[in-house]
Amino acid sequence: MRQIQHLVSFVFGLLFSSTLLAQGTFSVISLEEWIAYEEPIAIKNLLRNISASGTAKGSVLASPSKSNPDYFYHWVRDAGLVMEEIVARYQTSFSAPTKSQYLEVLLDYIEFSKLNQSTPNLSGGLGEPKFNVDGSAFNGSWGRPQDDGPAIRANTLIRLANVWLAEGKEDWVRQYLYNFSNSSLVKQDLEYVSKNWRNTSFELWEELKGHHFHTRRVQYRALREGAELANRLGDPKAAQWYWMQAMDMEPEIDRHWNASKKILVSTLDREDGLDYKWSELDASVALGVLHGCIENDFMSFSNDKVLATVKAIEDAFYRLYPINRNGQPGIAIGRYPEDRYNGYSSGGEGNPWFLTTAGFGEFYYRLAKELESKSEIRITSLNRGFYSGLTHKREPPASYKKGSEDYLRIIKALRNKGDQFLIRVKYHVDGTGAMSEQINRESGYMQGARDLTWSYAALLSAIRHR
Ligand code: NOJ
Ligand code: NOJ
Repeated sequence: MRQIQHLVSFVFGLLFSSTLLAQGTFSVISLEEWIAYEEPIAIKNLLRNISASGTAKGSVLASPSKSNPDYFYHWVRDAGLVMEEIVARYQTSFSAPTKSQYLEVLLDYIEFSKLNQSTPNLSGGLGEPKFNVDGSAFNGSWGRPQDDGPAIRANTLIRLANVWLAEGKEDWVRQYLYNFSNSSLVKQDLEYVSKNWRNTSFELWEELKGHHFHTRRVQYRALREGAELANRLGDPKAAQWYWMQAMDMEPEIDRHWNASKKILVSTLDREDGLDYKWSELDASVALGVLHGCIENDFMSFSNDKVLATVKAIEDAFYRLYPINRNGQPGIAIGRYPEDRYNGYSSGGEGNPWFLTTAGFGEFYYRLAKELESKSEIRITSLNRGFYSGLTHKREPPASYKKGSEDYLRIIKALRNKGDQFLIRVKYHVDGTGAMSEQINRESGYMQGARDLTWSYAALLSAIRHR
């Protein structure tokens, strides 16, 4: 009898033990099936971190984790990216209750962001990276300022403004987002970006002060789209000023091309912070294109320098992480090869992250879409490696013409490659569909901040672009 009891509890233990809920749980189902299962879970887990109990309305927890690591703060960058996903889903939502739920979240975020803008802080401006969850300033030492934050927030809210304009709600745009007083939310961010983009700041990883490709890209988008919005709202002088700043920025973004390494380097003019990023390869370059490019425009997805860099990043992470050679599809992507932040401390080894891996998937979907609107793919010395890796043709032709079979094959291969990154994510999430920040490079188990809000947003964004 005893033995049977033991056996029963052993079997139950196995069923509910974390090993069965861990990586590989979803290996038996297809990507489509998994997406159908995972998408609502990701939305639910993401929403749970917004206006969470014990926090001010409209604040976005980076993660509910309060210790080891303490991510119980509102980061301007994470919040802006998470809210862009909400805006996109608000825009396309057909269900009235869902739409009004998203609207409420967005209005709360707008209020909280106004509070952030007007709260004195140690950055002395809008570049303050994070706030306490009650909206008060965080006064500990930190990498300051981080100038991608106000630009990302502007991008998200300009997108919302355009949605509202399309819905005939110009009065809301003027009331909540943009009016001629320099104190309106979006205009304040645009004024800050337009007057500070030449300065150095810390990057999205909060470790290095200099001029960064990612920061510049999100600033560029804010100025371009901000100029367009200002024009639509009858503020032509501001529009012209933002536009001119964007034009001045283009050569600065070009300057990130390193002709001998043949990559876009993430940081120039380093002034402070880490000094061991030897390879100068960084997934933040690809994220900069995702968060900051204007499709079919200046240095967007199909640019050959961008493609050379994306290929170099993938190759580096493929070699670096043992789990990338465990027979599972797709490549798990980290922040940068020399990373020492393991999710708890900086004295360890860096790992792949969910948000970068999902981000690479999104990159391929959006590249495929951009190429569909072109008449040909021209092969250059810079993109040859990228395309021959995709087509397995060692000697590709000088150009692929739209409509040809090879062209269609490339588009298909790109979408398929995007899927490989999502299959990677699918393999490493736990059995409840939860996502932390990182994936251990050797064991493949999740680690770092649990339920990282940005991980969910990055996956949802990739799924939406799929
Ligand atoms: C927390 C930061 O957010 C992360 O990017 C960094 O790597 C670690 N601290 C170590 O500085
Ligand atoms: C560390 C990451 O490096 C940074 O990008 C992020 O903003 C914070 N964690 C909060 O998620």
